[in-house]
Amino acid sequence: MTQEILNTTTAFLKEKGFQNPQIGVVLGTGLGQLVNHLQVEVEINYTDIPNFPVSTVEFHSGKLLFGTLEGKKVIVMQGRFHLYEGYSLQEITFPVRVMKALGVSSLLVSNAAGAINLSYKKGDLMLLDDHINLQGGSPLAFKNVSNFGERFTDMCAPYDANLNKKMLAIAKENEITLHKGVYAAVVGPQLETRAEYRYLKIIGADAVGMSTVPEVIVANHLNLPVIAVSVLTDECNPDDLKPVNIPEIIAVAGEAEPKMITLFKGLIQQI
Ligand code: HPA
Repeated sequence: MTQEILNTTTAFLKEKGFQNPQIGVVLGTGLGQLVNHLQVEVEINYTDIPNFPVSTVEFHSGKLLFGTLEGKKVIVMQGRFHLYEGYSLQEITFPVRVMKALGVSSLLVSNAAGAINLSYKKGDLMLLDDHINLQGGSPLAFKNVSNFGERFTDMCAPYDANLNKKMLAIAKENEITLHKGVYAAVVGPQLETRAEYRYLKIIGADAVGMSTVPEVIVANHLNLPVIAVSVLTDECNPDDLKPVNIPEIIAVAGEAEPKMITLFKGLIQQI
């Protein structure tokens, strides 16, 4: 990572019309339909953005969008990069640095996760209150990191308290169950063993997934207020574990999507 690389990408996007964005949104599984609520002004495939990670097959549909949502100028990442696809932690988080350099002052992230806390049910939503990084590395572990922010980035409150408070109030108003919990990030792409689910519970995780934490660490590095919501797509009970059913996970995420959209739109309105 160099300032020059970041400047090239930022200048390219500004020239394409990504002017004065206020909010960045990362759409994970279960929030893709939010783009249907966006008045899109510019749309660029990741493959056409200089210095964005080189795409894999899955990424043919990955796009960066710019437009208006609830009266705010937003940048939306439609599709994210995962560690399990073979990218580095620095590559995965490069778009967050780009969004911050373009001017966003908050970042909203969504993902799909498995419920470790078995009082949380399939289809419920969980606001990330804290996280455990089990991805075996840091997106800040590179030589010139201090040129971009504090190397020893503080993590005592990784998720913005003010945004979280607003989000909980929006959930309440709309009668949407929004748990608050700890998200553990693993590399994947294999699912967890029964022993791993037991371990995740013991160490204090309420949910497990394969994303989000790298983006949140970089947002903290950049002093960019961040919030994240998980849709809990499956219940990870080690004493009654069934083989993973990916189509079902995607279906559950899809069913919960209207709730996610209500929360995200509500928050964007209030930022
Ligand atoms: N692990 C288990 N279940 C899940 C995950 C995961 O990473 N993501 C969505 N459901």
